[in-house]
Amino acid sequence: MGYDVGGKRVLVTGASSGIGAGLAVAFAKAGATVGICARREERLKEVLARCTEHAPASRMWVTDLSVPDEVDGLADAAVAAFGGVDVLVNNAGVPKRRHVTRLEIATVEAVASLDYLSPVRLTLALLPQMLERGEGRIVNVSSVAATLSSPGEAAYAAAKAALSVWSEGMAVDLWDTGVKVLVVYPGVVDTELFTLPDNDPFTAEVEKITVDECVEAVMAALSREELQVYVPAWFADVAARKAADVGGFLAGTAAYVRGRT
Ligand SMILES: NC(=O)c1ccc[n+]([C@@H]2O[C@H](COP(=O)([O-])OP(=O)(O)OC[C@H]3O[C@@H](n4cnc5c(N)ncnc54)[C@H](OP(=O)(O)O)[C@@H]3O)[C@@H](O)[C@H]2O)c1
Repeated sequence: MGYDVGGKRVLVTGASSGIGAGLAVAFAKAGATVGICARREERLKEVLARCTEHAPASRMWVTDLSVPDEVDGLADAAVAAFGGVDVLVNNAGVPKRRHVTRLEIATVEAVASLDYLSPVRLTLALLPQMLERGEGRIVNVSSVAATLSSPGEAAYAAAKAALSVWSEGMAVDLWDTGVKVLVVYPGVVDTELFTLPDNDPFTAEVEKITVDECVEAVMAALSREELQVYVPAWFADVAARKAADVGGFLAGTAAYVRGRT
């Protein structure tokens, strides 16, 4: 049978573009009421319009998740609007790609704050009402960077690795509660993430998949109640090969970067 999102109340962060926008619309099409948030109001309005075509009670909140009070405010607003949140999708994130020799601590802190601490904060705020009902789903969008130590992404990879390990620890603690956790490991998905200002250029040559392909895989993994999903799936094999020979993998990555610069 699996998990049916029809009739559920879903909160998706970072839904003004890319994977978050795609997921929000997919949830609405599947019969869920969707709450979306991000900083860009006009872009959110466009996504909300696509959601309300299918799920008229859907709502949006302009929120800067790097501000802790705004994270708490979002949780309160979503519960007040919908009467509860059944599925939390922690998707908002920024890479701030920067070679470690040019990385400043303020950047590392900013990435950790948005990519790791804000999903944790939002989860802790929404978990009690899930536990009360004995049912809930938390979907944390990590990255293959978390397991593959992508070059030029030390701050990002570390924040995403923290999110992944947090998710696994949380999944164990919540095992018998009815609240389940899914960790998503996107590879390279064709979004605005690669053209953001204030980031080193992304130079690896990896074929990009579409947002729709990523969304389809996430919705399927959620329905099958999986604990993790790599998108595309072959990245799981790469992660396993790295785990079997970390030294060889890192040397190979360094050689690849050297060959391209
Ligand atoms: N694309 C990939 O290949 C890839 C690979 C691995 C992991 N991921 C992860 O997938 C997630 C979605 O990324 P994407 O590829 O879809 O890129 P994207 O189109 O740039 O989406 C990022 C989303 O995060 C939101 N966001 C950024 N800073 C925020 C803040 N301070 N407060 C609230 N929202 C904020 C953005 O909205 P506003 O700018 O409007 O606030 C946007 O909606 C991210 O966590 C990313 O790390 C992506």
